[in-house]
Amino acid sequence: MSISAVMGMQWGDEGKGKIVDALGEDADIVVRCQGGGNAGHTVVVGGEIFKLHLIPSGILRTQAVAVIGNGVVLDPVKAVEEIAMLEARGIQTAGRLFISDRAHLVLPFHKIWDGLREAARGKDNLGTTRQGIGPTYGDKAARTGLRGHHLADAGNFAKLVQARFAAADEITATYGDGVGTRTTAGDLEEVLQAAEKLRPYIADTTVYLHHAVANDKRILLEGAQGSMLDIDFGTYPFVTSSNTTIGGCLTGTGLPPTSVRRVHGVLKAFTTRVGTGPFPTELDGDLALALRGDGQHHWDEFGTTTGRPRRCGWLDLVVGRYAARINGATDLHITKLDILSSFREINVCVAYDHHGETLESYPAALETLNECRPVYRTLPGWNCELGNVKKLSDLPTEARQYLELIAGECGVKVTTASYGPERHQVIHA
Ligand code: GDP
Ligand code: IMO
Ligand code: MG
Repeated sequence: MSISAVMGMQWGDEGKGKIVDALGEDADIVVRCQGGGNAGHTVVVGGEIFKLHLIPSGILRTQAVAVIGNGVVLDPVKAVEEIAMLEARGIQTAGRLFISDRAHLVLPFHKIWDGLREAARGKDNLGTTRQGIGPTYGDKAARTGLRGHHLADAGNFAKLVQARFAAADEITATYGDGVGTRTTAGDLEEVLQAAEKLRPYIADTTVYLHHAVANDKRILLEGAQGSMLDIDFGTYPFVTSSNTTIGGCLTGTGLPPTSVRRVHGVLKAFTTRVGTGPFPTELDGDLALALRGDGQHHWDEFGTTTGRPRRCGWLDLVVGRYAARINGATDLHITKLDILSSFREINVCVAYDHHGETLESYPAALETLNECRPVYRTLPGWNCELGNVKKLSDLPTEARQYLELIAGECGVKVTTASYGPERHQVIHA
């Protein structure tokens, strides 16, 4: 019995897709546990780029089965589009993709609400991906949502969706009579058509996973977003609406906690954040541009889901330490080391100073966080390409020092470092 989890340790986009793909080589089952179409996971195989939002990246490992767990919020229309994209590129999904009958459905009005709520917040907007994530989890908590088993019920689904549309339009009417704030007949038709196609994929995935555990299958849990976007532990309210840390993997699947053997924390060698909210080590000017790239490469820091430029800054090990603890990380995977290869000096934040006092843990109040000053350690850069290095111990001294600082501050060993988006561009311990 072996369950491993891959968790983002920053504000998302750490390179989880790449690490899931690497570890997926040995997996029988790869599972998404939370989040929804807000995620954008990139995997590059032999120059071919795959961007996955809802379906686990592990689908690209043809020996593996992909599961969308009960904790995910599933947009049926988007799911069908993604299945079609995969099938068109020769990746079969029939018989190797299962969607939980307990997963909540994102319906068109959830996306409308997402946009309206953002607009109502004005300059204090959260910068959501507008994928209907918050409103769908809201309906889940309010106990008014529709789930996979409703979609599977061919005789009743249309009636149920219509009733939800009508109730939703009443709520939306309170926002005013603007164009595009109501669901349309076309929206309904689109959902019903998607439901037809998705029906064969709906299953009791908890039972399926329990059987797999009993049969010693190797299960890989694919986290979405990052620890600092967690609804409890992140920079609330500038977070997403699910638990993006290890607890979400358990409630989002029904798997037993005692079965999780390894927790792989993915940490980008610098920090990025897309959307609004606090970011203590954020940079602007030339340094930010050097980290972001100019958009010529697919790995430059522009959102996979929304195309927005990501905010960039130095590595924050206060965040790294906090995320390592909450997730119980056993291994660290450091990505995008190559982006720092041209830097002469690199800053790393090792503490937060709050009016002369070093904070022991991540502050809950944003007012406190905003008063914190990052305390930096400056390290020399390695100033060379890393392409020919195979083992971490063969890295230039400066790069080794960088990784040692990360491991020391987080209290977790570095298992791999990655220097490019391709499967083979990875250095092992
Ligand atoms: P995820 O959401 O955590 O899966 O990350 P994204 O896919 O949104 O963003 C990570 C981007 O960095 C993708 O374009 C990856 O292909 C790319 N990437 C991953 N690891 C590396 C690396 O080590 N170096 C470079 N240059 N790109 C990488
Ligand atoms: P992956 O899995 C980066 C951010 C949004 C916004 C906040 C709330 O690719 O790492 P939401 O639409 O979830 O209500 O938006 O969370 N966000 C992400 N940022 N990577 C992601 O996913 C994200 N998913 C949500 O930008 O700030
Ligand atoms: Mg992403």
